[in-house]
Amino acid sequence: MKKNIVVMEGDGIGPEVIKQTLKVLNSIQNRFDHDFSYKKVLSGVKSIEKLGDPMPKKTLKECLKSDAILLGSIGDPKYDHYNTRRGMRPEDGLLKLRKEMGLYCNIRPIINYSIIDKSPIKKEKLKGINFVIYRELTGGIYFGKKGVYINERNEKVAYDHCIYSTKEIERIGKKAFEAARMRRKKITLVDKANVLETSRLWREVIKRIGLSCYPDVKLEFLYIDHAIMKILLNPIKFDVILTDNMFGDILSDGASVITGSLGLLPSASIGKNNSLFEPVHGSYPEAKGKNIANPLGSILSASMMLEHFGLNKEKKIVEKAVKSSMEEKICTSDLMTNEKCSYTTEEVGDYIEKYIKIHC
Ligand code: IPM
Ligand code: MN
Repeated sequence: MKKNIVVMEGDGIGPEVIKQTLKVLNSIQNRFDHDFSYKKVLSGVKSIEKLGDPMPKKTLKECLKSDAILLGSIGDPKYDHYNTRRGMRPEDGLLKLRKEMGLYCNIRPIINYSIIDKSPIKKEKLKGINFVIYRELTGGIYFGKKGVYINERNEKVAYDHCIYSTKEIERIGKKAFEAARMRRKKITLVDKANVLETSRLWREVIKRIGLSCYPDVKLEFLYIDHAIMKILLNPIKFDVILTDNMFGDILSDGASVITGSLGLLPSASIGKNNSLFEPVHGSYPEAKGKNIANPLGSILSASMMLEHFGLNKEKKIVEKAVKSSMEEKICTSDLMTNEKCSYTTEEVGDYIEKYIKIHC
């Protein structure tokens, strides 16, 4: 299979985890005779410093032409001055990319591999956890009108407008229902319908779609504050969690605790014509260049990309290799009980690359 993949290394640990991911993809491509071409494009801080723009037109154009985008991670504390450098943070580039490419459907699976002992959740509650968050990614408070002004009492005032249309809710809703049908047939819509008008619209639309098109899927509702508690107390009960942009952002970091490390979490962002795959973890600037970052979130994101291409056999072998690395305790320090016995980013990548060469 021929695929044109745009690679954005991004900031912090991004280049290091992407390096391991490309090693893994290359061993897949060799074993299965695919033709993956990689085009590296400028992103994050490098793009700001070279071109004065976190998401230049040229990068966007390459992304729009691609079959998929692989992204490392975005963000740098050097650019934490939002007020003085408006629109110039690396994160602004990522948000622009999501919006311009129409990547409205963000999929974040939460799986506990029960191999690693790092989860703070009791062992007996961890068995068989396998749920997935469907987060709306191009609407809501992230993209509504925002502003800062001085009011009549000479105080500084700021606002962020949360806005959702029926169509925006319908399209992600359908994706979540389709996913639930292939899984355990249960959706939990997480919102704040006791307070927010947008949440009440979400409930109305999702109920309607459920009743008319997916009566076989059980639909339940939870308020965000209660949801995070229930997810941590009884994670096994969840199958597909559907939610808006902001709540999805908060829930996914919260739920990552279950797996034992945020470094394990992959994600896919899907639009009508394009797709992007990135680990959920951030740029982790403290670890930059130290060869200690966990590459598994990025490698598992690449396996979601293979699945998106319809390469299920290939996806499964990558996942098997990742599981094997954990069983053998070839892991970075975030996954190890005894950190002294941990392996480097590079060594974990080498193990997975080799596993694929030997086992398929
Ligand atoms: C995520 C990140 C981003 C978000 C940031 C980097 C803008 O936290 O993908 O979860 O808030 O969506
Ligand atoms: Mn986040």
